[in-house]
Amino acid sequence: MIAKQITVYVKPGHWDAYLASQAIWNRETRGAAGYLGGFCGQASPDEGVVHLMFFWRSREALQRWMETEHDRIAELAAADLHYERIETRILDDVSGGGAVVPGLLHENTLEAADVQFWSEAYRATAALRTALRLGLFDALSAGPLGPADLGRVVNVDAALLKHLLRAVRAMGLVEERSDGWVNSGLADRTLVRGAAAYQGDAVLHNSQPSYIDSMFAYGERLGLPAELEDEAEGFERFLHAMANTAAGGQADALVDAVDLSGCRTLLDVGGATGPYAIALCRAYPELHVEVLDQEKTMSSARGAIAEAGMENRIRVVCHDYRRGAFPRPVDAVLLSNLLRGETEAMVVDILRRAGEALVVGGRVIVQDHFPEDGASGRGLRASLFGLHLVDKANLTMREMAGAVEAAGLKVVRVERLPQSVVMNGIVEGYRES
Ligand SMILES: C[S@@+](CC[C@H](N)C(=O)[O-])C[C@H]1O[C@@H](n2cnc3c(N)ncnc32)[C@H](O)[C@@H]1O
Repeated sequence: MIAKQITVYVKPGHWDAYLASQAIWNRETRGAAGYLGGFCGQASPDEGVVHLMFFWRSREALQRWMETEHDRIAELAAADLHYERIETRILDDVSGGGAVVPGLLHENTLEAADVQFWSEAYRATAALRTALRLGLFDALSAGPLGPADLGRVVNVDAALLKHLLRAVRAMGLVEERSDGWVNSGLADRTLVRGAAAYQGDAVLHNSQPSYIDSMFAYGERLGLPAELEDEAEGFERFLHAMANTAAGGQADALVDAVDLSGCRTLLDVGGATGPYAIALCRAYPELHVEVLDQEKTMSSARGAIAEAGMENRIRVVCHDYRRGAFPRPVDAVLLSNLLRGETEAMVVDILRRAGEALVVGGRVIVQDHFPEDGASGRGLRASLFGLHLVDKANLTMREMAGAVEAAGLKVVRVERLPQSVVMNGIVEGYRES
C-alpha cells in the first residue's frame, strides 16, 4: 500500500467552494482500480489548510489513475480555483499497515468496533453473493435505474431491495445518483457478466453454501462440541452483547454527547440491563431512571442494576414498548439501539408516545446505528446490519429526523457521534407544547 499526501492552502473566502470541489474528487475517485480510501482533515479549523491522505494498492495503480483519470476529474472539480497552492508527496508503506484495511471502517470508531466488525463480516459475503445472484450488477450496467425499475428487472419488491442496495453501496459496489442507482467502476470492471476482468464465478465459488457451512463449523473440526442453539442462553448472550457495546466505550460516548443537566427523570425504553441508565445516573447524581423492557429481561436487569448499586435510582419495569402509553411525566426519554429494528410506522408511533410522556420542554434522545445516505462510504456496518431487518426501517439520521418531526416533536439535534462502538449518531426531539 502507498499513500498520496496532499496539503492544500485554501484561498480566503473559498472554503465552501473548495469543499464542494473536493467532494467531486472523492466521488469520482472512489471506484478507481486500486484506490483504497482516503482521509481529509484539518489540523486547526482557523488556518484554511486541509491535509489529505489517499491510499492506493501500489504506485502502479496510482500512476494508471493519474494517466487515465486525473486530468478529467481536475477539470470537473476545478479545485485549483479555490486554493493558493498545494504540496504533494507519495509515501511508501514502511510500517506494514494497520489492523483494518484503510477505507473499510470510515467512521470514528473505538477499537471495540474493529473487533465487532470482524464478527460481522459474513454479512458482506451474503450481500455480495445475493446481489450477484439477483443479477443486480448486470441490470445496472446498462445505465442508471430507479428503485422501482431496478426491482422490476431483478424481480424483487423494490421496498425489499432497499437494505441490499445500501449494503452494496457501503461496500463501494453501487452508487445512488439523482437519476438512479449505478454500478461503481469496481463493479463495472469485475461484477458485470462479460467484463474482461469478471469475478462473478469466483465470488459464487468462494461463497458457496457448503464452504460457508464448513467455515462456521470450523471449531468442530478443531474438536469443539457442535453448537446447539438454546433460546434462553441466546437471549442472555444478547443482553451481555448489548452491555459489551456499552462497556467498549459506547456508554461514555453517550454521556459525553448528551446534556441532561436539569433532568430528574428519564425513561430508558428497551433499556436491557441498563448500561446506559447506569452510566447516565453516575454522570447526573439527581437523575432517576425507569428502564422498560420485556419480562424475560427483568431478572438480569435487576441483577445488573443491583451490582452497580443503583437500585435506589433505577427501577426496572416490564412494559411492551409497542403498545400503550409510556409512564409519565418524564424529563427525557432514551431510545437507544432499538428503533432501527421496527417498521417505519412503528418508529413514528413509539416516538409519538415517547413525546406524549414528556413534560413540555422535555427531550427524546435517539441513539442508533444509522446507515449513511449519500456516497461517502460511511455506514458500512449499519448498512450490513440492515440485511437482518429485511422489511424493517433501519432509518438514516435524516430519515430519523423526519420521523421525530412526524411524531410531533421539534428536531433540535441530528449529529454523528465523534466516536462509537455501534451506535454512530444521535437525533434529539423536543416537546414544545
Ligand atoms: C437491541 S436491544 C437495545 C438495548 C439497549 N437499549 C442498548 O442500547 O443497548 C433492544 C432491547 O429492547 C427490548 N425489547 C424488544 N422488544 C421489546 C418490546 N416489545 N417491549 C419492550 N422491550 C423490548 C429487548 O429485550 C432489548 O433489551
